[in-house]
Amino acid sequence: MLLPASVLIGLLCLSNVGGAWGFARLQDDVELRSAFSVARTNSMEGGPKMTVTFDAIYVNIGGDFDPKTGLFRCRITGAYFFSFTVGKFPHKDLSVMLMKNRNEVQAIVYEENAGEERKVQSQSVMLQLEFGDTVWLRLHGDPRYALYSNTGHYTTFNGYLIYPDTYDFQTHHHHSNSNSQQPQEENKPLLNSNQATENIRSETTDAPVVVVVVEEKEQQHQEVEEEEYDEDEDDQRSAFSVGRTQSIVGVNQVGLPQHQPVSFDTAFVNIGEDFNVTEGVFTCRVPGAYYFSFNVGKMPQKTLSVKLMKNHLEVQAMIYDDSQGEKALQSQSLMLSLKPGEIVWLYSHQKDGFGAYSNHAKYITFTGFLVYPDLPNTTTTTGGSQSYADKKP
Ligand SMILES: *[C@@H]1O[C@H](CO)[C@@H](O)[C@H](O)[C@H]1NC(C)=O
Ligand SMILES: *[C@@H]1O[C@H](CO)[C@@H](O)[C@H](O)[C@H]1NC(C)=O
Repeated sequence: MLLPASVLIGLLCLSNVGGAWGFARLQDDVELRSAFSVARTNSMEGGPKMTVTFDAIYVNIGGDFDPKTGLFRCRITGAYFFSFTVGKFPHKDLSVMLMKNRNEVQAIVYEENAGEERKVQSQSVMLQLEFGDTVWLRLHGDPRYALYSNTGHYTTFNGYLIYPDTYDFQTHHHHSNSNSQQPQEENKPLLNSNQATENIRSETTDAPVVVVVVEEKEQQHQEVEEEEYDEDEDDQRSAFSVGRTQSIVGVNQVGLPQHQPVSFDTAFVNIGEDFNVTEGVFTCRVPGAYYFSFNVGKMPQKTLSVKLMKNHLEVQAMIYDDSQGEKALQSQSLMLSLKPGEIVWLYSHQKDGFGAYSNHAKYITFTGFLVYPDLPNTTTTTGGSQSYADKKP
């Protein structure tokens, strides 16, 4: 959460910061903005140069996306949301991967169907990035593959910073958990990532805060932070993004519990630890409005039916595909207003004839994050919530 240096200094002096901490969300902190949205106005065929480049720029706040090389380069360490949509070229297969650095495949769109029709496929995911990490789209190098676009801008790529790590000295233990399955140290640029984050902080905050951060870094993450920010409940951040590398095949079986959630095996991001990956269930901790998106591969000869569930059997949104076609991907997204303890999960129809496809490239992904926490019903206001209340319409 972003705080102006003056408020931070004030908070550091208070013994009890109460609920004020999370609400000072500075929408106008220019230094901590990063967002891009780009499109491609012509088609591209698989070949040696696999990075998808873009020629139409809608938004490039912070200048972190280089349309000529097709690379987004992380300048502000934090959690980012990415989405992309690519068109399928007639008589070609489609395979476009979202890449982190050189080799780490994060998520994919895919359609093995050299039919003549044109379609679009979409995918989205959240990633935790360190300074210098690159994110880009890779088209399969074989000329059997191609992506379609024209002046209709079928092929688009978007990303934006959701939670900068301005206080990861408080929460870095979460990050190390949530990234446990991701290779972290590959392909780093020359710049050391600790140096990098310190540089950013010194640009965006004033001296007293930097001192805290630098000391902590130098002490190799010793537990010195607890005394200043001891309450996790003050953390108003909540975000998860998970992937599944196994297909789901529905079977008729008696005696099994009905309506099992889809479980996952890869956590890209799990800020606040509100998502139980093995169980496949998100439990709301911070009341507010959440954005959810999910993407699921269709298995050949199987009907795809995956529903986004809230609490028990309340269907919020779904994807469905009963075509006979080959592998393809379906996507859905929406926002929900949640109260503490409410749960959100995915349900894939469990009867014979239904199924969902995935493999190591993670066709099945599920992402959610808090967009706006509910305003608290407080009569006494402290510094932080005061400034938040001022923004109330
Ligand atoms: C996730 O859920 C399972 C099954 O309910 C439970 O055993 C496990 O402890 C949970 N994990 C976490 C991290 O809460
Ligand atoms: C907050 O105030 C609203 C309107 O007065 C009320 O409906 C709601 O129940 C209150 N919520 C809590 C948690 O007190």
